[in-house]
Order: sequence, then C-alpha cells, then structure tokens
Amino acid sequence: MIKLGVNIDHIATIRNARGEDHPDIIKAAKFVSNCGADIITIHRREDERHINRKDVIKLKKKISKPINLEMAANQDMLRLALKIKPKYVCIVPEKRMEVTTEGGLNLKKNNLRQIIKKLKSSKIEVSLFVDPSISNIKLAKKLGADSVEIHTGKFAKLFKLKKKSQLNKEFIKIARCSNLGKKINLNIKMGHGLDYDSTKYLCKIKEVCEFNIGHFIIGESIFFGLKHVIKKFKKIIKR
Ligand code: PXP
Repeated sequence: MIKLGVNIDHIATIRNARGEDHPDIIKAAKFVSNCGADIITIHRREDERHINRKDVIKLKKKISKPINLEMAANQDMLRLALKIKPKYVCIVPEKRMEVTTEGGLNLKKNNLRQIIKKLKSSKIEVSLFVDPSISNIKLAKKLGADSVEIHTGKFAKLFKLKKKSQLNKEFIKIARCSNLGKKINLNIKMGHGLDYDSTKYLCKIKEVCEFNIGHFIIGESIFFGLKHVIKKFKKIIKR
C-alpha cells in the first residue's frame, strides 16, 4: 500500500493571512484524517510563515494519525522534535528567502549524522529529502537514515511542460534511485510539486511507499473540496 501524507502547511498560510485562528489547524488535520490521509505532514519553518511551534505541539497532542514533521537540521528544531516525538521526521534544507523547498539536502555539507542518531534514539523514523542521485541514496544510508524522500519538483515541472525526453531522463533517475534505495533497505518516499497526473505516473515505480503532497491538494480543494481531492489521490495511489 502506498501511503498519502497530506501537507497542511497552506491551511496555516490561509489562517495566518488574517492573523487569527480560522481555519483552525487542528480541525483541518482531523478533517483531512477523516478524508483518508494516512499521515499529517507539517513543516515548521524558521520564519513560521505557516505552521508555528504552538501548532506542532498542539497537533501532536490532539491528532491520532502519524505526524511527519519536516524540519531543517538545526538544534532548535531538533529540540522540538525530541519534545513532541512525531512518528516521522523528514529533514529538509531551508533557505529563508525561498518560496518553497527548492531542492534536496546537500548531504556532504550538512552535519546530519548526529541529528539522525538523536532522532532515532527517540524512536523517530528519519527521512532525508534528497534530489534523485545515486550518491545521495548511498550517502543517506551511510548517515543512518531510515528513508529518503525523493524531491520530485523537477520531474513535476517537466511533466507539466510535457518535455518528453527530459522527463523521461528524470523519471529514469528517480526509478534507479528508488531501486537502489529499496535494495539497501531504505523506505522510498516522494514529494514536491505533484498533482494527480504526475503522481499517477510515479506510481509506476514499484518501490515508492509514500507521497507527501500539499500545495496541489489545498489549491484544488478550493474547487472540489478536501474530501473529493484526497479521495481521488487515494484512488490514484491504490495498488
Ligand atoms: N515533501 C517535502 C519534504 C516538502 O518540503 C514539501 C513542500 O513543503 C512537500 C513534500 C510538498 O510539496 P507540495 O506542497 O509542492 O506538494
């Protein structure tokens, strides 16, 4: 079974636009869970532009579905993760001025080993958000990660632009990384920029066990509602 992690950051973005409490993030997480989300995914950025520290703590207390906390590799986020102990942490790169997480981690630059070790000793399953390259997969394993989340942003863009030969190249890269990752016992997750069609296409890769999807779900829900959109995704990823 492929799991669907629904990223609810942009529900908080809408809430923050008015600086008050509506739409309520706990109500949203419960609603999304009832619609079929397997995992509630949240990213607390340093600038708290959507999910904030209070949300993270409250969500962990009130939500029974597993939480996937996306976080930068820094001590502040590590302390928060160790305090709330989500089921999953996905370590992501973070640049303050970026609109969204524009690429995967530089596994050589970041000092990730200690952070991964500390999270794992609290029984948190750790994933690393990486661009699809064979060296990233090998390094993720060496660093002690349980999973990789492959950044599908480039693939999703090429898919929308219908750039067939480049798309095919990117797909083969993702497929090769997934194949190697599974062989060396990493869980293979994917996310970023995905919509119905690009997700369906990636389901051809048999190793994928989870998608994390945010912006498209929230955007499409304006027209069709969260329930319809989540159910449609669940149908697409069903094996
Ligand atoms: N996975 C990770 C690690 C992310 O950082 C993001 C974006 O916050 C997503 C998935 C979801 O991307 P999108 O909002 O484009 O679906």
